[in-house]
Order: sequence, then structure tokens, then C-alpha cells
Amino acid sequence: MKKRIGILTGGGDAPGLNGIIESCCRTLCLSGFEVIGIMDGFEGIFNQTMRTLTIESVSGRHQDAGTLLGTSNKSSTKSREAEFFEKYQAMSLSGLIVAGGDGTFSALQAFAGKIPIIGVPKTIDNDLSGTELTFGFDTACAVVAEAVDSLRATAEAHRRVLIVETMGRTAGWIALGGGLASYADVILLPERPFSRENLCGFIQERKKNGGRGLMICVSEGAKALGEEAQVSFQVSGSPEPDRLGGISQTLARWIESKTGWESRNVILGHLQRSRHPTTTDRFLTLEMGIEAARMAAENAWGQAVVYREGRIKRAPLLDLMQAPKRVTADHQWLKLAKALEIFV
Ligand code: F6P
Repeated sequence: MKKRIGILTGGGDAPGLNGIIESCCRTLCLSGFEVIGIMDGFEGIFNQTMRTLTIESVSGRHQDAGTLLGTSNKSSTKSREAEFFEKYQAMSLSGLIVAGGDGTFSALQAFAGKIPIIGVPKTIDNDLSGTELTFGFDTACAVVAEAVDSLRATAEAHRRVLIVETMGRTAGWIALGGGLASYADVILLPERPFSRENLCGFIQERKKNGGRGLMICVSEGAKALGEEAQVSFQVSGSPEPDRLGGISQTLARWIESKTGWESRNVILGHLQRSRHPTTTDRFLTLEMGIEAARMAAENAWGQAVVYREGRIKRAPLLDLMQAPKRVTADHQWLKLAKALEIFV
């Protein structure tokens, strides 16, 4: 009988998930494994919803955003651990390849030593520890950069400040990467609470110097000095219930009232998660998926596929569960922003 390996995608979707599924499944099938796709994250185990994946059923899907297996960022195994384990056992799998974020891996920690797992780090936020890069991040940055570049036209046509709000939770990677790639005039990050006075001074100076438009790229978790990030709403059952957002609108009204420069805001939201993956993300997922499959074939469970020093490597699964990776004060991208006199 063929060995059965399960593949599960958990947490918020990220462009590249289908690339992981395709490259991993194709490698496993070519090595003689039966591949079982578990539907809708943890729900698929609770509800025993799964489908057999074949080379034919996954081929060509790498280019699509989303995940052909479905996912959820509000389901948990908490206080249902016994049921989860029982249902997992009923699936007769040799192990699980899981593409997920901190919420998914923290929930699976309860089954360490009981369920063989190989982790593939995933999040557009790029804030997972243990890996220098997560797939989906480059695509999210591309969406942001394209938006800032496009919106510059209307900002200049109307002599306005245009504020583009990105995702990223408590990490500013997407705003920094996307804002830098599009040469935004101001980039505001959660890691660097901004001085209202300095920001106002910078904007007034630009206005005085005849700037027609001003582009601001703000992370949803950004905040002014001494203030808290803006919570938009809460999702009950989610490992992290607070959904941040709304700062771009608040800022637009504040900037207009303080500087007299007409301001508008755009919240990019889920567009950042729903674009077909960039070439960088495709290469990353192609290699990570193949490596995850090889690890399963070698019974190298309890490990994760990570990106370090320009290469795909293996690391303990626990490495993904450390504190979130945030933009450090000495990061090279901050130095580049400052070299261009971007307010950051
Ligand atoms: O973690 C990924 C992420 O897209 C965050 O950047 C964002 O804050 C959150 O998920 C949005 O979650 P939801 O899909 O529940 O709106």
C-alpha cells in the first residue's frame, strides 16, 4: 500500500500557496506517495473533508492566488485537541505537510511528538521568525508599489496627499518594501512610532517647495508616538482577534486639518493577498514545496523548510514559533529610505 501524506494550508491565504501544493504534490506523486489534500485548514480534519491530489489535478495551479485546498484564519484546535487527534488518526496518514503562519503552528504544538509535521512558513506579512523571507510577501509588496505608483497621477493632478494603507499587522515589512519600491515620500511603520510634529513639518515643507502631490505609505499597525495602533474590528475564535486598520483615513483628516493640503486615503486590504504570485514567490514556493516533499520522503518530521542566507534550508519547526520578526532600527531598507530623504 502506498504511504499517504496529507497537505494542509492554514491561516490567511498568501500568493504562492498553490505553488507549494503543486510542487510538493508533484514531487511526492513522482516518488510513489499518495497525496491527500485536507480542505479548509483544521476544519478539514475535524470534518474529515479531504481529496486525493494527483499530478493532473494540481498541474498549472501554481499561478493562481488563494489555495485550492481552502483555508481559515479563525479555526482553532483549542479545547478540541482530543477530537482533533482522533480525527487525524482516522485519516491514516504518515504525516502532514502544513503551510501556515504562527497561529497554525502554535495550535499544532499541542501535538508535538504525536502528529508528524513538516512546516512551510507562510504569510504576506513576512513576520515569521526562523526564516528571512516568507512567500506571498514579494507579491504583496508588488501590489503596494503598483498602487502607490498609480495613485501618484491623481495625487498630482489634484494637488493632494494620497495615503495608501497596507496590511502587515504589527510588522511594517509590506509598507516598507512596497513604499520603498515605489519611492513613496513618507513610509510609516509600527516599529517606528512617528512624531506628529515632525510629520506635519515634513509635509508642510514639501508643500512650501511646490510639491503637487505627496504619497504616504502607511502600515495598518503604524501609530504616532505614545499612541496605540487602530483596531478596526475583532474576529472571535481567531488566534489573534484584533484586525488592525483605518489609520489612513484618520491620518488623511488630520493632515488636511493641520496642513491645509487636501488628503485622500486608499486601503489596499485583501488585494495584497489575492494577486497571482510574482516570479520571486514562484521560485520560492517551487523550491520549498520540493524540499518539503523530500523531507517527508526521508521522514524528516518536526522540521520546517526555511529561507536563510539566500538558500532554502531545513530548521527545527520550533524556530517558526518564536517572537515575530519585525523591522529592526538598523535595517538596510531604512538606510536606503533615508538616503532618498523619505520620511520614515
Ligand atoms: O496575516 C495576514 C493578514 O493579511 C494581515 O496582514 C491582516 O492584518 C490580516 O491577515 C487580515 O485578516 P482577515 O483575512 O481576517 O481580514
